[in-house]
Amino acid sequence: MSSKITIIGAGSVGATIAYKLSGEDIASELVLIDINKEKVEGEVMDIKQGTCFRNPISIIAGDYEDAAGSDIVIITSGIARKPGQTRIELTQTNVNIIKEITPEIVKAAPDAIYIIVSNPVDILTYVFTKISGLPENQIIGSGTILDTARLRYGLSEHFHVAQKNIHAYVYGEHGDSSFVPWNSADIASMNLDDYYQVMKDKVDLKELDKAGMEEYVHKSGGQVIAKKGATFYAVSVAVCELCNLILAASDSVATVSSMMHGEYGIEDVALSTLTLVGPKGVQGRIPIHLTEEEVERLQASAKVLKDVIAQIEI
Ligand code: LAC
Repeated sequence: MSSKITIIGAGSVGATIAYKLSGEDIASELVLIDINKEKVEGEVMDIKQGTCFRNPISIIAGDYEDAAGSDIVIITSGIARKPGQTRIELTQTNVNIIKEITPEIVKAAPDAIYIIVSNPVDILTYVFTKISGLPENQIIGSGTILDTARLRYGLSEHFHVAQKNIHAYVYGEHGDSSFVPWNSADIASMNLDDYYQVMKDKVDLKELDKAGMEEYVHKSGGQVIAKKGATFYAVSVAVCELCNLILAASDSVATVSSMMHGEYGIEDVALSTLTLVGPKGVQGRIPIHLTEEEVERLQASAKVLKDVIAQIEI
């Protein structure tokens, strides 16, 4: 595949995304940009020296101009969450970083699809949308794609069934106000409660504690950070999957963050719901039916984000 992907930020997340992309046939050109030149050169050397068993790939430590012609630009820059810190506490610092990066990168790569990964991702997706001047379809926040991955992992452990057979999604903020619209979750086309009833004796299942499963999703990031200092593998896999979806021949469904325009009564905020993602970026939201309570939870999540937006300087 002859695609070019630029990654801004060579911290743990940016470097892991580059490393993973270097091992797959997703891109033929990778550009890594970071203000810490030594670090980015070291990462590129290390990654390049592991590419002898794949099709040739160009990987450079570059500047913004080197991003010209990129199909995808991934923004991972920012200060990482520290143990005990909430995503929201990071906000103004990382907003300021995005404000510095945006004019430079957009000038160099105006036609790329942008994936915003830095936290708080929904706020930064909103800020990037407001200041970049790019069409909204070109802007995707990684949003709850990671939370959805955590949910499916957790459900697969609980129900002893492969993750690919589970359709369940995390909606809202990539953070504590997110939730699962359980009514539309299914395993093998069955609502989870029905699946439990018909399968419990066959595979020795316990009843699902839905609130507990949501808490598992909410706490996972913080737990990994508390144990190893940062999270980067799962998020990087999710971002590489997004690159795959963007470079694919047809659109796919994912929970990613983008601007709301009145869906479920919500506007002027970026958050995640089921979205069609493909070669043109965000193709549109899939307006699945949510129960009244689910709509309220989504609106509450939007309010959490809007309260933050009201406190930051864009
Ligand atoms: C997490 C960080 C990336 O949830 O927000 O792992």
